[in-house]
Amino acid sequence: MPNKLKLLTYSVPLAIASLLLFSGCSQPGQTTEKPKEVSAETKETTTSAEDFEVKLAGGKLGSESIAFVGGGSSNKLWVIDAKYHKLVTTIDAGGPKLERTEQRYPNLHDTHAITFTKDFKLMFTVDWFNYDDPSYVIAYDPTTFKELWRVPAGKGGHHSALSPDDKYLYVANQYGDTVSVIDIEAKKKIKDLPTGKGTDYISPSMYWDGKAIDSPYLFVSVDQEDKVTVIDWKKNEVVKDIPVGASLHGVNLTPDGKQVWAAVRGDVKSIVIIDVETLEITDKIQFEEGPTHISFSPDGKFGYLTTGKNQIYKVDTTTHEIIWNSTGTTIPAHTGISPDGGELWTLNHGMDQRYNYQLGGEVVSGVQVWDTENGELITEIPAEGVPHEIQFIPYSALGGGVALTSEEVHSHGTHSIAEAGEKIYKESCITCHGSKLEGGSGPALNTIGDQRSKEEILDTIKNGKGMMPSGLVSETDAKILTNWLGEKK
Ligand code: HEC
Repeated sequence: MPNKLKLLTYSVPLAIASLLLFSGCSQPGQTTEKPKEVSAETKETTTSAEDFEVKLAGGKLGSESIAFVGGGSSNKLWVIDAKYHKLVTTIDAGGPKLERTEQRYPNLHDTHAITFTKDFKLMFTVDWFNYDDPSYVIAYDPTTFKELWRVPAGKGGHHSALSPDDKYLYVANQYGDTVSVIDIEAKKKIKDLPTGKGTDYISPSMYWDGKAIDSPYLFVSVDQEDKVTVIDWKKNEVVKDIPVGASLHGVNLTPDGKQVWAAVRGDVKSIVIIDVETLEITDKIQFEEGPTHISFSPDGKFGYLTTGKNQIYKVDTTTHEIIWNSTGTTIPAHTGISPDGGELWTLNHGMDQRYNYQLGGEVVSGVQVWDTENGELITEIPAEGVPHEIQFIPYSALGGGVALTSEEVHSHGTHSIAEAGEKIYKESCITCHGSKLEGGSGPALNTIGDQRSKEEILDTIKNGKGMMPSGLVSETDAKILTNWLGEKK
């Protein structure tokens, strides 16, 4: 991949563009051509298929700046080091691989959703396989990527969101015409709320900062009934349908919880703004093509949205003035903003002729990363499957009680806590604790994460204990070692 990608206007073959149009969100029985074979003259690429292999992706996982992406038809969740823009690993959602009855995307599942509890201790996706079978909510431990449990939701579960208090997970069942309400503690479905045909997306109750968006409602896009359905999450009831005049996808709350921006396509081609208090439409911002999805800057001053085939906009949320407009590859659909607000990530349904081979029967898709200041393309992260939803994890979310900044993790020219921890350990601790943490003059540390909290480990490293001297390493290195040792279980 070229290192310095400047803003490019990509010419995307229209056939592929229309072929991929909302591919993950279509209805059963809809006929779609298979993606074309790669033709001989377009075979010259700057990358090879191996670039997509996780083992060669080169990313290393630190406990900071991580993006989790619902990898759609790849049936995987992608884990990306958001600082270094590298795919670190993927989490396979499991299940049968070769029995799918539908012609479309044979042998593939669909994982759209990615939702975290506000303490970042649980991560959810929704996976489905056959149109007629119920989808599954899968709960993971995001620190180990281990599946904890799975429970059935409705047919074709697409996106999901948690109630602001994290008691319930709501699943939009695209082919079940309902929203399933899953009780997180009881680990079971307690209700199916009738919402309508093409129930697709639910406004998240948190962006990435661990703080609930203050809203009494969740908002659901019902794309074949051209409406936003409003759910009162305290009562688990539908309280209103708001017609928006055409099919829609993204419905996102502004960070202050006061407005909902709905991305309405068809003839409306607008962001339709709904006041959360009155549940009335108060404004519309029109575009040349129908909007698909919206994200907001952390301070709520700007909205970033994708439209139609390939357009991306930054809009002032007060004046509705367009600040910049860029052109992405095929269908940048969902969006996410990095925790520092500096980057807009678009999840694109296709890349272009630079990535012209296929994986799992599909053309390559991926992420494009944009500078929110000026709309310039920073980089691209190609991958298999079609990405559908993104959740950033703040720098310290997975670091336990001892938080590290991104700079600290990378302070030894290293890219992860594991790498940095091992390096410092070899320099300062190995003589007493052994090359495999098996112990020597000091005790074994290979299960220390089970025996001591991170706070206790940090205290020992900083202040010493018994025969162990204090101040062997700097404050930063003590924190790195703590996070590294804390995982030894
Ligand atoms: C000079 C030898 C020596 C060196 C060097 C040393 N330690 Fe220790 N360490 C010990 C001894 C001895 C103990 C046991 C202290 C006690 O419990 O009385 C210990 C205890 C610990 C414990 C607490 C274990 C427990 O069960 O609570 C941790 C954690 C630890 N060391 C980490 C480190 C780290 C990290 C480094 C490198 C920065 C390091 N040590 C360097 C000798 C050493």
